[in-house]
Amino acid sequence: MDLPKVFLTSGGTEPASRRHPWIYSGAVAGVDGEPEDGELVAVHKAKGDLLGVGFYNGRSEVRLRMLKFGPPEDLPGLLRGRLRRAISLRSAVVPPETDMFRLVNSEGDGLPGLVVDRYGPYLVVGMLAKWTEHYQGLLVDLLREELSPKAIFFRAGGKVAEQEGLSPRAEWIGPGERYVWTKEYGHKFKIDLEKGQKTGFFLDQRENRKFVEGLSGGKVLDIFGYTGAFSVYAASGGAERVVMVEASSEAVELARENFRANGVEGVCEVVEGDVFEVLPEGDLGGPYDLVVLDPPALAKARSAVPKA
Ligand SMILES: C[S@@+](CC[C@H](N)C(=O)[O-])C[C@H]1O[C@@H](n2cnc3c(N)ncnc32)[C@H](O)[C@@H]1O
Repeated sequence: MDLPKVFLTSGGTEPASRRHPWIYSGAVAGVDGEPEDGELVAVHKAKGDLLGVGFYNGRSEVRLRMLKFGPPEDLPGLLRGRLRRAISLRSAVVPPETDMFRLVNSEGDGLPGLVVDRYGPYLVVGMLAKWTEHYQGLLVDLLREELSPKAIFFRAGGKVAEQEGLSPRAEWIGPGERYVWTKEYGHKFKIDLEKGQKTGFFLDQRENRKFVEGLSGGKVLDIFGYTGAFSVYAASGGAERVVMVEASSEAVELARENFRANGVEGVCEVVEGDVFEVLPEGDLGGPYDLVVLDPPALAKARSAVPKA
């Protein structure tokens, strides 16, 4: 396989040899050839022997994202193998009556910078590294062959896209639609695939929501409720009353639809507003037996901690 070669410094070789999937710009001594940003390259240790293959990005501080340690393999075969492994791991853990879940979790599935979420018949791809743009056509082919989705929505944007040199995008490949109804543990949720937060839903909180369902009774306060997921679980777990606070009017609208779809609109109430104004006003009708607090990232850097 004739790939461009990247050589590491001796200081950079040591941590990379311990198989960290990210190699920073300061660990790169030189490049043989002219790889495009996002292209697969062979990565060599300082003394010249091969470390593995990774995706190169000349404009990112994370200069290399390692795909494989050891000899190169053909890229489609390598990506297909990772995808199949991720799919088979999910089939062992996704609960019944659940048709939305994270299928590919970036480094955790050996595909650094790639997120793939399933929402019923659709896939939403979160592009977090340049290679997902460089090889987008290949990814579309592989996802279609392995998962037969009705359509795939590609999302890139924000600070990550800027740092990676990714063109911001929100595009369907195939016949997509903005909203889809999906299920999680049998509960119904309407997802905004195009404009929703994250890829449309906070899929990572599934087991916490299930936990809350088991705890619920009495009065529950769901702060930063988004589209009402914790509230639905709390109501279905037997809460007498659930009050949810959320600032986004789009999310509040979906929460109301979700309450109706799950038959809990009589139990769940929405307060649309800023938590930091609503809470100090103190008229949320407490005391509460259970408070769910799932805030946004209030401190994304150490410097933001005091304000957060
Ligand atoms: C991490 S998400 C909550 C996810 C939700 N618990 C779930 O499981 O779907 C944080 C939510 O807080 C909302 N939010 C952010 N700042 C807020 C504020 N100051 N007041 C009220 N809601 C806010 C966002 O719109 C977002 O829906």
